[in-house]
Amino acid sequence: MPHIIDGMMQTDTSIHRGGIVIKGVEKTYRLGRRTVRALAGVDITVGPGEFVAIMGASGSGKSTLLHLCALLDTPDAGSIMVDGQNLAALSERQATLFRRQTVGVVFQSFNLVPTLTLLDNVLLTARLAGKYDQSVRNRAIELAGALGLAERLTHRPDALSGGEQQRAAIARALLLKPRVLLADEPTGNLDSISAGNFWRLLKGVLAESVDIPTTVVVVTHEPAAAAYADRVLVLRDGKLAGSFGVEGQDDAGSIAARYQHALA
Ligand SMILES: Nc1ncnc2c1ncn2[C@@H]1O[C@H](COP(=O)(O)OP(=O)(O)O)[C@@H](O)[C@H]1O
Ligand SMILES: [Mg+2]
Repeated sequence: MPHIIDGMMQTDTSIHRGGIVIKGVEKTYRLGRRTVRALAGVDITVGPGEFVAIMGASGSGKSTLLHLCALLDTPDAGSIMVDGQNLAALSERQATLFRRQTVGVVFQSFNLVPTLTLLDNVLLTARLAGKYDQSVRNRAIELAGALGLAERLTHRPDALSGGEQQRAAIARALLLKPRVLLADEPTGNLDSISAGNFWRLLKGVLAESVDIPTTVVVVTHEPAAAAYADRVLVLRDGKLAGSFGVEGQDDAGSIAARYQHALA
């Protein structure tokens, strides 16, 4: 009965469609004779469309976790499912497609190509993925506009401020409507007013993409930024130290207090 098999396959993969399931993940770096245990057994589930902030002291493993979810590196132990795909089981070709289409990434270096205009940088991944057409170009212009970059489309990165480069990287990451957006301290270079504008813009852009809800995992050490999330996960020494839900009335002060409480 194929429909039952179909149904089973659907339950298998669609439960966490768009979501992330991390189980028992460990990662140790070796530096000559020294070893650094960056992740020491992490279990995290992020629901489809959920907006999660990861907080933790410097060196607690936040960037490592994001890199593993983006398939830029592989864990020593444990498993990671993103959008129903077991990352360890992907072929080379599937891995390339995953990096180009399933996830959008914004890392601390924005990786903009210096010789390309802002618009061409936003379009770069789409071109690499063979997804470029007029409607993608229009969406790129729309997204850039929504992120306050309408007047900057023809500028090259060296003519842009740090904040504008960051927003260009976000537009590029969102262009192909990824199921999952992974961002590592995306407002690290912005003053608090620009950072606030940025989070509100991001939430607005995400709310527009109603056809496919985007799951967001953002690393931040700023309680004010974490206040925009649905939930905060706290890492300490490569382990999940705690987590808490964010309510509408939560502000930077209450997030900071709950963060400290999770660490205590
Ligand atoms: N490529 C690497 N080689 C060696 N050590 C690393 C590497 N990446 C991270 N580490 C170490 O792993 C630990 C966790 O790093 P990271 O995930 O970058 O933490 P965070 O982003 O929370 O500051 C740190 O002690 C860091 O020095
Ligand atoms: Mg980091």
